[in-house]
Amino acid sequence: MLGEEPHPPYERPQLSKAMLHAPDAPVAYIKQASDWSDILAVRLETGSAVIDCDADRRIVATADGRSFAFDRLLIATGTLPRRLAALENSAIEIQYLRNVEDALRFRKSIHDKSRIVIVGGGVIGLEAACAAAKNGCRITVVESEQRLLARAFPAVVSDLVAARHRSHGVEFIFGATVSGSSSDGVRLSNGADIAADLVLVGIGVEPVATVAERLGLPSAGGISVDAYGRTAASGVYCAGDAALQFSRCHDRAIRVETWANAQNQAIAVAGNMIGETREYGDPPWFWTDQYDLNIQVAGDMLEADHIIRGDTNCGKFSVIAMRGADIVGALSVNSAKEMAMLRRVIAADKRPARADLESSAYDLRAALK
Ligand code: APR
Repeated sequence: MLGEEPHPPYERPQLSKAMLHAPDAPVAYIKQASDWSDILAVRLETGSAVIDCDADRRIVATADGRSFAFDRLLIATGTLPRRLAALENSAIEIQYLRNVEDALRFRKSIHDKSRIVIVGGGVIGLEAACAAAKNGCRITVVESEQRLLARAFPAVVSDLVAARHRSHGVEFIFGATVSGSSSDGVRLSNGADIAADLVLVGIGVEPVATVAERLGLPSAGGISVDAYGRTAASGVYCAGDAALQFSRCHDRAIRVETWANAQNQAIAVAGNMIGETREYGDPPWFWTDQYDLNIQVAGDMLEADHIIRGDTNCGKFSVIAMRGADIVGALSVNSAKEMAMLRRVIAADKRPARADLESSAYDLRAALK
């Protein structure tokens, strides 16, 4: 297993959650470094960036000049943060949040810096805003859309999240982006200037496709795989954030940028690499924690009819997304148990009647029978 980062494998949710909320929270690794070799018989090569791949000779080459032969190859290179061109070579400090070093740096900053501009009101920007606001920083989030988390949330939940942030002092500017900076702060596309000591950029991610490109595989928008994780190159597989895979809920191929997909698609694809036949098609699922809100999303919430179960005013409800008779997505606010049921209903492609779903007395377990 070749990895560019100097660390043994770790999970990323902690980088914008647990690690930011406790100043001394250690990095949680998936296994102790020695377990990879001692228990799993995996040769782990950290600090080893793959920069080339020869499809005919079936060899990958690392930046430090070594090469490794393979019979089968898994590309699990994930994504990197999308850069904001207007802030390259900036006089003000700019940070991104993707790896352990980024999280440690941002955690230190939220103790030292008082005025932070966050570009992007998505998952990363908002979880970072939450941690920084709790530390007493003054936060302004600049979001190019007209509402938060527009890529995944229905408007009613975007509004709830915005209100919770505002009650902790976070300010929002919608429909604008950052167009430049000085040592005093940033200039926005709408002409406004905002004073800041630090800018955190969380405007989405791009797949890392170096290996796929070296193999001559198309990589625009991600690395295409079938239900078994196979790419178009014989013996070459892909899983995780970089994989472009068909999603039944979305009815098109998407990249699934979630912890659950990185884990479960990889398990299925690894099985296929050793001769099993494991189709993978779990509905996408992720969660975000902000203040007292635990919000989970499964499937696709956009361009669908929404059924609300529970009371949006008491901060505990779920939203079901339907296209015709199909449930294509679900979102829960502080209702993890209901989400667990809804995920099972979606995965099993069950079609309970809309009238039943609209009644909060309806027990979702009945839909699974
Ligand atoms: N200026 C301001 N906002 C922007 C700009 C811009 N130039 N470009 C994009 N945005 C906004 C988007 O409208 C969106 O609301 O930034 C937000 C990015 O949100 P996400 O796509 O959720 O990306 P991000 O928050 O960076 O998270 C990246 O990390 O949590 C993981 O895997 C998870 O997909 C997630 C990834």
